[in-house]
Amino acid sequence: LKASASPPGPSFQESQALLREMKKDPILALTKLYRTYGEVSHFRALENEVYFMNSPDFVKQVSVVNHHDFVKNQGSGIENSSGIYESLGVKGNRIFEELVGDGILMSEDGLHDWHRRVMQPAFNRDSIATYAQSMTDLIAKWCDRRADGETISVRKEMQGLTLRIVLKSLFSVEGAEADEFAADLAEFGRTGEASHQSAEPGASDPVLGLRGVLPFSDKKKYEKAVEKLDRFVYRMIDRRRQGGGRTDLMSYLLRKQAPGETEKALADKEIRDEVLTIVLAGHETVTNALTWTWYLLSTHPGVDAKLRSELGVVLGGRVPSFQDVSRLTYTSMVFNEALRLYPPVWLERRRAIRDISFGGYTIPFGSVVLISQYVMHHDPAYYANPEEFDPERWSAERRGGIPTFAFFPFGVGPRACIGEPFARLEAPLVISMVAQRWRMEFVSEKKPEVEPHVTLQPSTPILMRMRPS
Ligand code: HEM
Repeated sequence: LKASASPPGPSFQESQALLREMKKDPILALTKLYRTYGEVSHFRALENEVYFMNSPDFVKQVSVVNHHDFVKNQGSGIENSSGIYESLGVKGNRIFEELVGDGILMSEDGLHDWHRRVMQPAFNRDSIATYAQSMTDLIAKWCDRRADGETISVRKEMQGLTLRIVLKSLFSVEGAEADEFAADLAEFGRTGEASHQSAEPGASDPVLGLRGVLPFSDKKKYEKAVEKLDRFVYRMIDRRRQGGGRTDLMSYLLRKQAPGETEKALADKEIRDEVLTIVLAGHETVTNALTWTWYLLSTHPGVDAKLRSELGVVLGGRVPSFQDVSRLTYTSMVFNEALRLYPPVWLERRRAIRDISFGGYTIPFGSVVLISQYVMHHDPAYYANPEEFDPERWSAERRGGIPTFAFFPFGVGPRACIGEPFARLEAPLVISMVAQRWRMEFVSEKKPEVEPHVTLQPSTPILMRMRPS
């Protein structure tokens, strides 16, 4: 192959058909693209040249080896590209990216690296250990509120719980204040969704401003909801600036504003962006991971029984501690397998900031590069019986057979998830404590399909009847 060759892919006309398929089912469309054209393929989405790269080696090239050749969203001559996902059928991305602003999920280069460094201590092992107590307190309260025979929407419940966990652990926000934040966030979700949907029919070009085509009333409601969230966060910042509080992520962010601090201070707007980034990235993902985990456990009684037996042996009815989590090996295998089958972040995008050649191909400046956790995690080339829920894949004997970079639910490289250690404490604590007290019976009429929003959600509510363990 010549280094200048363009990867295979659909013709211009076929790309139009592909985009229509993407709008309906982006996961299926990307899977078909991979099966038809192989590990790297090219298509056009409106004015964008898009390259879909699906192999462990490409994940490594894009996220680790050549990460300097890409931005996530903008910069180095690339304009803000948050609209691209809509042309690919991913729901809800623009409102999400607008809300998190220049927080580390979407910022680039020096700003990203500096803010990530400021926040990193809150995610180090010693800090993570201190969150276990807040987590178990909140999980115990959630368990206490359940009643025998009650039917819950498991995603809604996990969302309420994980939001409170992130607010308390990282920002010392709890009780009525956390409830207020939850209500404001729910309002944002509702109005954002409404404005998104009502914009759809009139939106001739999904890459160009959604906001321009929103009916006035929806747009106003949505803007009001954003303002409310902003006010809440600025109040939080002000209060903490005035009086002490414990050491948490907020204190690391505010420390940069302290007198005598040598580094440049973070502006309040920068802190606001980081707070909303962490709160959103830190609970939506875990919510979906846990929702799918409960669904899988309730429909696989053998796995459920084995999990409960581990809880009996390791915990014997005790509340788990930070140290216990590393001993809950089967629980972690179950969680990994849920992350494989239903990766909460199922698609990542990058933009090339120069012409790059790898794998024998040239990827021109400005191209969109996609990698997909979902497509790779379901590839029979790396996973035998990929659709099967089989936590034993992650046993010490078998996990060595899975190539590095074929499993990347938290991403890899310098832009990988900062919250992985947080999630890997929180999820086993939730799974083990809830399972010690309760059993969930799946009672929805339909099997839930996946719905690819920014995170991978169930298409219909997953209803569970609660039974004592
Ligand atoms: C099961 C749970 C989680 C999953 C599957 C997950 C997955 C990911 C992935 C794949 C990325 C990289 C995205 C990209 O580059 O396009 C990411 C980034 C990020 N995640 Fe997570 N995440 C989870 C939990 C959390 C938690 C608990 C927090 C915070 C408390 C968090 C905060 C972040 C942040 C701030 C970034 C941006 C990092 C950067 O660009 O420097 N995540 N996450």
